Amino acid sequence: MLFFKALSRIFGAISGFFTGIANNIFVFSWDFSLFLLNLVSFKRKVGEVTLKGNAGYGGKWPEYIPPKETDSRSACPALNAMANHGIIPRDGRNIPYKGLSAAIRKTYNFAPTFCYFVPKYMADLLTRDHNRDTINLHDISVHNGIEHDASLTRHDVYFQPDQSKPALDLIEDLLAAATGPNNTLTPHDLSVISTRRRREARANNSSFTLSTFHKLFGSSNSSTLLTIFGGRVNDIEVLLKEERIPDGWESRVRDPFGLTFAKFNSTVFRVELGIDGSSGLGGDYGHPTDGKAYGRSNQNSHDEKMKEISE
Ligand code: HEM
Repeated sequence: MLFFKALSRIFGAISGFFTGIANNIFVFSWDFSLFLLNLVSFKRKVGEVTLKGNAGYGGKWPEYIPPKETDSRSACPALNAMANHGIIPRDGRNIPYKGLSAAIRKTYNFAPTFCYFVPKYMADLLTRDHNRDTINLHDISVHNGIEHDASLTRHDVYFQPDQSKPALDLIEDLLAAATGPNNTLTPHDLSVISTRRRREARANNSSFTLSTFHKLFGSSNSSTLLTIFGGRVNDIEVLLKEERIPDGWESRVRDPFGLTFAKFNSTVFRVELGIDGSSGLGGDYGHPTDGKAYGRSNQNSHDEKMKEISE
């Protein structure tokens, strides 16, 4: 009996592995097709990027209401902003993964590939079913899932266990780093500020970890400020400090099939490779995979830490 149980587990793991690979091949082929279609399509006109019938059409976003103490919020300012405007449930709870994907597509004009892949990745991380289950925004902050140390808008979890709280001092530093024309952030600015942030976090946080993988997540998250937000400091300030979508705002990505991984990754690598040698891609810090870096087990230790602090 035990033998058959073990055998079925092994087959389950192997088939899961191959399904995962097939799924990734499918998503990245689909993404590349959308990338090519964008190359040969007209861009959406300025003022018409948010499509008719969607929240934010004509720059009119649904009412902004800051979160209540009991609402669930995450380490991601863009997802929190959607909840603060009621584009996803205002309490940030029980959000179907599929609904989240659709809302990201309509609000920020990311390609459907990104809108599928990232929530699916999150669901897998939390061992949930992307087709059937729901997520609370708080779940997204699981440490060393996507959330990591040395981010640009949050103090490390070691200092601030509640990762939904924007770190206003770090945000000020980020905004002040802008050197681009018309008060914009450039890829070089993000590399400079990330270099500084990684050095500072490594020096001060005795629990500091940052794997190569999480460095790339960090540069991906921050690169949305250059692509979707066009680097515009005035808009980014509102997004990061208030977690609000500015009045009249629309995505700066005008490609009709949205921002694909194929295009986005050129910005991500430019930012990451510009980060100074010792803190750039050149290696991992700490031991983020100490056996409980991913999934619920780590969320539990995170939750325990939060409980300790609030008691
Ligand atoms: C389901 C989709 C998404 C998930 C699961 C997700 C998750 C996360 C997480 C966990 C963080 C914290 C990372 C850290 O520790 O620094 C984060 C940060 C961030 N995300 Fe998202 N995100 C999603 C979609 C988006 C979208 C659509 C945008 C932009 C339009 C965005 C922009 C950002 C930004 C600007 C940060 C802050 C980066 C920093 O502090 O360095 N995210 N996201």
